[in-house]
Amino acid sequence: MCCVAFLMPAGLVAQQASLSSAPPVSSVAIDKKVDELLRQMTLDEKIGQMSQLFWDKTLTDDRIKRGELGSYLFLTDPHEINRVQHVAVEQSRLHIPLLIGFDVIHGFHIIFPVGLAQAASWDPELVEEIQSAAAEEAAANGINWAFAPMVDIARDARWGRIVEGSGEDPYLGSIMAAARVRGFQGPAIGTPGHLIACAKHFAGYGSPDGGRDYDSVYLPDVLLQNVYLRPFHAAVDAGVGCIMSGYMDINDVPASGNRFLLQDVLRKEWAYKNFVVSDAWAVYNLTAHGYARDPEDAAYRGLLAGVNMDMGSDVYLNNLPKLVANGKVSDVQIDDLVRPLLKAKFELGLFDHPYIDEALAKSELASPKRLQLARTAAARSAVLLRNEGGLLPLSQNTASIAVVGPLANVKKELQGSWSFTGAPEQVVTILDGIRNALGSKGRVTYEPGVELKRELQATVNPDTMDPDGNRKSDEELEKAVEAAKQADVVIAVLGEKDDMSGEYASRSSLALPGKQDLLLRELVATGKPVVLVLVSGRPLNITWASAHVPSILQVWFPGTQGGNAVADLLFGVTNPGGKLPITWPRNVGQIPVYYNHNLTQVHEDSPKFASYYWDTSQAPLYRFGYGLSYTTFSYSKLNLSTPKMTIKGSLNFSVDVTNTGKRSGDEVVQLYTHQQWGSASRPVRELKAFRRIPLAPGETQTVHFTLTASDLKFWSPETRAWATEPSTYDVWVGGSSAATLHGQFEIESSGNR
Ligand code: NOJ
Repeated sequence: MCCVAFLMPAGLVAQQASLSSAPPVSSVAIDKKVDELLRQMTLDEKIGQMSQLFWDKTLTDDRIKRGELGSYLFLTDPHEINRVQHVAVEQSRLHIPLLIGFDVIHGFHIIFPVGLAQAASWDPELVEEIQSAAAEEAAANGINWAFAPMVDIARDARWGRIVEGSGEDPYLGSIMAAARVRGFQGPAIGTPGHLIACAKHFAGYGSPDGGRDYDSVYLPDVLLQNVYLRPFHAAVDAGVGCIMSGYMDINDVPASGNRFLLQDVLRKEWAYKNFVVSDAWAVYNLTAHGYARDPEDAAYRGLLAGVNMDMGSDVYLNNLPKLVANGKVSDVQIDDLVRPLLKAKFELGLFDHPYIDEALAKSELASPKRLQLARTAAARSAVLLRNEGGLLPLSQNTASIAVVGPLANVKKELQGSWSFTGAPEQVVTILDGIRNALGSKGRVTYEPGVELKRELQATVNPDTMDPDGNRKSDEELEKAVEAAKQADVVIAVLGEKDDMSGEYASRSSLALPGKQDLLLRELVATGKPVVLVLVSGRPLNITWASAHVPSILQVWFPGTQGGNAVADLLFGVTNPGGKLPITWPRNVGQIPVYYNHNLTQVHEDSPKFASYYWDTSQAPLYRFGYGLSYTTFSYSKLNLSTPKMTIKGSLNFSVDVTNTGKRSGDEVVQLYTHQQWGSASRPVRELKAFRRIPLAPGETQTVHFTLTASDLKFWSPETRAWATEPSTYDVWVGGSSAATLHGQFEIESSGNR
């Protein structure tokens, strides 16, 4: 009780936030404050800090007053946030503010393109700006902790949450992870207008059996180390304030009780000092996995693994007191887990500035600058997959356009999953975007053609076919085809709705859901030029379209300004420059398919003894790093500063990139390497560097990259350690993972591996 006066910030009742004036507090000073506070806390208060609840309006304030709640999630109303903070700060014994966490994933009010789309921009500065803008809105509304970035590598498009991450590649994933952390947190935790970021879902969640969300994950050490853990490590190196432990089993040990991951890797090897929150109910559910005997055992195992905060289940609050009372858990163990949670609250400046200015909260939601950013971001994320005969860009003098498809005139569906606080009514539909762009110049007709529902897919769809497999007549579809026949150009907006990918949204097929494939074929059969605008959070099976539809533009879930951005692209106001952050399979049977696979045996006289399918091509439909532009680029003069690098040295590369077409455009210059021999087989290619550059028609830029020997290190199953190995290395530079401009260098052994 001695230090209540120290803990009660002056003038709290009247105070409104003015975080910009908050002086930075040194970490030593914070550690001291944390220890002083800890000394005054009862066991129940400490366990309270380790507990987070889903907010709902039936909850009373009693727990907050008793100091037995550390955090709310899913509370987004600024007025209510202020109210509960007042209760915590003024009515609890030790005046400890609450952490308010929320899924600020790709926007708060203004919704930006989904994570996978952001990665397709290959523009980390843009991604940082997006998350910073999202953080600014959320922080002004009283949120201080984002459950993002999601940094799970995913190589299986059946998995619905592929939409949230950065795709299949550990290097691109790491660059994006760090950019997102910087965007959310700013230069340091506590920077005004920013949030604590939380890298999730530690670790391996993106590789569930069969692509089924939450299912067990089996990942050998080589994949864990070289692929799946790397973006997490990058997030930790970028100073991420929180890690979320996953739901699923990994190699038979649930992630939220996994001491190897949470202690050996995260805390010991990476020296991570901030806090870990479980995914919702994941500690309690250690029982459901057949791992923990009962909830008490679950709490014990969560604690041993080092999960600082339980999300949602109260398994800590209900069981840790018993575990301490019977001596199974010590006070020191509890203190060690509470410390980083208190530290986060001090770092955020919450003790000094717990409240927000509600008037400012509202005004923050209407920023034209952020709307413009949303439009730019959506345009920079789109990937042009096909453009036969240069159908795109369309002329703004096109006399008549038929806009067709169930996703052409929708709003909420363009936001993608995790957009709870978005304002769907503000979303610009693709139809409106096209109408805005054409103004009164051209005639735009619209027909949805088919309905889009999340439903089981029958082999013979009774809506479309009679039992003999003949197509039933279909009025909506006929109307769409008729509209197409009357137009000069058809824009078919097809794909998935927001709830078709995301959490619990796995699929066994990648087909265009419902009757969309049929609609597309009928549109093409009219003989009119068709542009397919694909809205989705994952690669879909467009193998037929890739041979029959002249132009295909992948726009993902583009967010609030989606319609305007798509129109900018269709009419050439912006030139598409995005590239695929994932390999695009021909069909579901090719999964998993990713560019950085290993080489396999080659029998020149017996090609059948190779890795291939006899019923389809070995190649994916579109490669990792692929994307077209309205202009063309050429690569030349790949120069290496030396043909030999020492094991501790570095190597400079330069390459000339020329815009050989007639329009300005962006190219993503990509550098891949391959280690020819070593202590383990190495992938056929690995992305090591990239840069997105703008080029005017005819312009040549010399692009420079530097690789240090450490950029070439990998975790070897032979040595069970990270090392750069002496070997011969290939290097390719170009506009996709199929780049052909080639060089070679050696890394010489210096005997100090
Ligand atoms: C479950 C999801 O897996 C996680 O990503 C999310 O942050 C939490 N629920 C909270 O909504």
